[in-house]
Amino acid sequence: MNSPVMQVLVSGKEIDATVNRLAKEITRDFQDKNPVILGALKGSFMFMADLVRQLHFPLEIDFVRCSSYESGRHTTSKVKLAPGLDPDIRGRQVLVVEDIVDTGITLAFLKAYLEKKKPASLKLCALADKPSRRVAPLALDYTGLTVPDKFVVGYGMDFNEKYRNLPDIYFLED
Ligand code: IMP
Ligand code: MG
Repeated sequence: MNSPVMQVLVSGKEIDATVNRLAKEITRDFQDKNPVILGALKGSFMFMADLVRQLHFPLEIDFVRCSSYESGRHTTSKVKLAPGLDPDIRGRQVLVVEDIVDTGITLAFLKAYLEKKKPASLKLCALADKPSRRVAPLALDYTGLTVPDKFVVGYGMDFNEKYRNLPDIYFLED
């Protein structure tokens, strides 16, 4: 099998600047709220690690794991939550951290699920957004990068579990 053709879409340097900007916005809104920063695995792991190192105030970290992509580039509209990661967020100020929002189905599902747990507030942050692909109505509170309708990998994001370790964001050519 040939290796896919990949082109840099966002450099590590641009990612750093984006994370710094988001960290400032989040600090302004959460610095006195002892929030739970809730990463959506697996894609958010690298973004989470960089983001929380720029948040210099008391907070807690937890994770959930949703899966909507069975494999490959095509989403299934079924979202599942992995068992075992079910954070207690009742009465807490929660910030969900996601890698990328595409159709919005995953994050809309997660938001509805988490709202049933009665957090004091629930905000959504995504490193990357593909608004042209939105199916589920979903407003992000913090958006890093708006990306075109292309499949992207790197900086936590995968194609069939590969490329999550790349420090830049690439798009995969068809
Ligand atoms: P959505 O439910 O269509 O919004 O898809 C959201 C999930 O699919 C994200 O949490 C990602 O994990 C994954 N995803 C969506 N677009 C991409 C992409 O371009 N590259 C890698 N993963 C993606
Ligand atoms: Mg994800």
